Amino acid sequence: MRRMVAETRLHPADLILPAFVREGITEPVPIQAMPGVVQHTRDTLRKAAVEALEAGVSGIMLFGVPEDEKKDAAGTAGTDPDGILQVAIRDVKAEVGDELVIMSDLCLDEFTDHGHCGVLDADGRVDNDATLERYAEMAQVQADAGVHVVGPSGMMDGQVGVVRDALDTIGKEDVSILAYTAKYSSAFYGPFREAVGSSLKGDRKTYQQDPANLHESLRELALDLEEGADMVMVKPAGPYLDVLAKVAASVDVPVAAYQISGEYSMVEAAAEKGWIDREKAILETLTGIRRAGGQMILTYWATEAAQWLSAGRR
Ligand code: PBG
Repeated sequence: MRRMVAETRLHPADLILPAFVREGITEPVPIQAMPGVVQHTRDTLRKAAVEALEAGVSGIMLFGVPEDEKKDAAGTAGTDPDGILQVAIRDVKAEVGDELVIMSDLCLDEFTDHGHCGVLDADGRVDNDATLERYAEMAQVQADAGVHVVGPSGMMDGQVGVVRDALDTIGKEDVSILAYTAKYSSAFYGPFREAVGSSLKGDRKTYQQDPANLHESLRELALDLEEGADMVMVKPAGPYLDVLAKVAASVDVPVAAYQISGEYSMVEAAAEKGWIDREKAILETLTGIRRAGGQMILTYWATEAAQWLSAGRR
């Protein structure tokens, strides 16, 4: 009866798998702070994409980790047509074609030696407008590599509009934009910094949002839609379900939520200690995000959770 009257259902197609691919490795490298998640080789990434597809997951969000010596102040590896992210997009596309939605992180932090999401001005501050020019270039190389959706995640003002123009200019009108609309400056990104080998020393408070603010997200939302966002995202998910619910209630575009690295690691760590039931806890977090209005959920558990769901365990 409870199953019959349940107000919220999870489906494998609600899930999107974020995946890391690292240049120059021959074996996958486990991420210590994210037990069960690895930095993929090009080869194991292709396998992970196929596995996700077979489990019914609808999309994959790719993050590239360049070799250390390729990082520089402008993050040029991010716009190199042969850079790791572009190579990975081509690999996955060759493997799964259009069956799985291929998304790419459009941000400089994986590629800069200072670890910021943008380029810096003479005073060492992130230069919003100079960064937009880099994002335009990034969007074009990612689109050329065959990506279906770009995810500008750097929280620069005007990024969606600039990326839309850049894509349209090269005839890539059909590449969609998943806008990181409300991206909070969160302590829960901690494990991700290891995942992408980030060089960041300071913080991102000058461009990511203050956890105290909700209305600011709604202003960001209005701007993103005006600039041409096809889908919008709230990130992190768990501590921001109120923001997610508000955003979902006020738009008619698809709304995504990103269950980030720290949300993943907390559950894994507690489960490892035997303090919570891992599978139940995972499905509860995903159900909560879905209930709050997250139509698409980016989660490192995507493939495994999709397999559970297909087996009728929820
Ligand atoms: C920026 C980006 C970050 C994450 C996704 N895209 C890091 C940050 O903003 O600090 C975090 C994802 C996670 O923690 O799982 N390229």
